[in-house]
Amino acid sequence: MKPFLLYGALSLGLLPQLALAQEPEPKMSRPDPAKGAQLAQRWCAACHIVSKDQTRATDGTRSFAAIAQGADFNVEKLAFFLLDPHPVMPNMTLSRDEARDIAAYIGRQK
Ligand code: HEC
Repeated sequence: MKPFLLYGALSLGLLPQLALAQEPEPKMSRPDPAKGAQLAQRWCAACHIVSKDQTRATDGTRSFAAIAQGADFNVEKLAFFLLDPHPVMPNMTLSRDEARDIAAYIGRQK
């Protein structure tokens, strides 16, 4: 029993200090629209108008500005949508952060 109790006391006493000694890891980084712009150029510009100076895109796609101005537009919802690409999109896998960056970039085009 004794070693077990000792272990319990140690873990109660020491672990919080160990946890404090480490740099707190931010749970979610802030979305970065500038990074989103680069990702959009690379992954989305073939089909969508992703910026004001782009003139050509695939028929049947909405420009990012139009998407941002949609009545039900919501950055978080869009980021979530992008994790599960629409059927016509080539199979690209965006990380959660990348999806949030792109959504933040689109959100700037309101
Ligand atoms: C291969 C062409 C293609 C690429 C690349 C592509 N899309 Fe799309 N996207 C489409 C088409 C076509 C639609 C409309 C049809 C549909 O919803 O399936 C669409 C629809 C969307 C919608 C829904 C728009 C609406 O009208 O509600 C969003 C948001 C979107 N795309 C974002 C993106 C983002 C962000 C990227 C880059 C990461 C991207 N798309 C890359 C073709 C593409």
